[in-house]
Amino acid sequence: MPENPWDNVFKEHGAFFGEPHEDMAKVVELLKRNGARTVLDLGSGSGRHVVYLARNGFSAYGLDSSPEGIEISRNWLKREGLTADLRIRSMTEPLPYEDSFFDAVISVQVIHHARIAEVREIVAEIRRILKRGGLIFITVPKVKSQAETFQEIEPDTFIPLDGLEKGLPHHYFTPDELRDLFKDFTITDIHLDSVEHYCVLALKP
Ligand SMILES: C[S@@+](CC[C@H](N)C(=O)[O-])C[C@H]1O[C@@H](n2cnc3c(N)ncnc32)[C@H](O)[C@@H]1O
Repeated sequence: MPENPWDNVFKEHGAFFGEPHEDMAKVVELLKRNGARTVLDLGSGSGRHVVYLARNGFSAYGLDSSPEGIEISRNWLKREGLTADLRIRSMTEPLPYEDSFFDAVISVQVIHHARIAEVREIVAEIRRILKRGGLIFITVPKVKSQAETFQEIEPDTFIPLDGLEKGLPHHYFTPDELRDLFKDFTITDIHLDSVEHYCVLALKP
């Protein structure tokens, strides 16, 4: 599995993010209106969205390459008397789910942690595991953050040389690039959130 500094972050800080993403209440409302039941949080971290989805009655699935993040998520779910299917895997490997399995896939600040060729494969995998008419809510960064020094390993993909995410690739996006990346989806919205991440809402036609 690729090196993942988030495992140490979760070891040192515990659940790093507490509240769900600022759009998640609206996303959940939309999922309910669409009759969604099975939802994957790709790169589920320390569990804030898996817990939120399970609380809202969905069959929640989470995948992350940080064993520590998955362990924190497991304990959080247990404390709340909730369940979810959690897997320790890298998103750069084929996703361990059948074709057309999910009604929705969400992924907050995750899929940019790869080279662009890998990001394209991840998006193809998301499409494969999503049902026709299934929804995606995906956020990726617009600007560099969290480090002072970076190495550019390919156009617009940087590796921080210091800070929390040292060593982890970050690809930075433009709206045009996102429209191209999700060209096999029907995009309904792309907007910037309060932490300068593009939020893409789309469905699989
Ligand atoms: C900024 S955190 C976001 C966590 C979570 N989505 C949230 O919003 O709370 C980035 C997450 O990406 C995960 N990650 C990084 N590279 C990964 C990979 N190759 N496969 C799976 N997860 C990865 C990290 O472990 C971390 O949990």
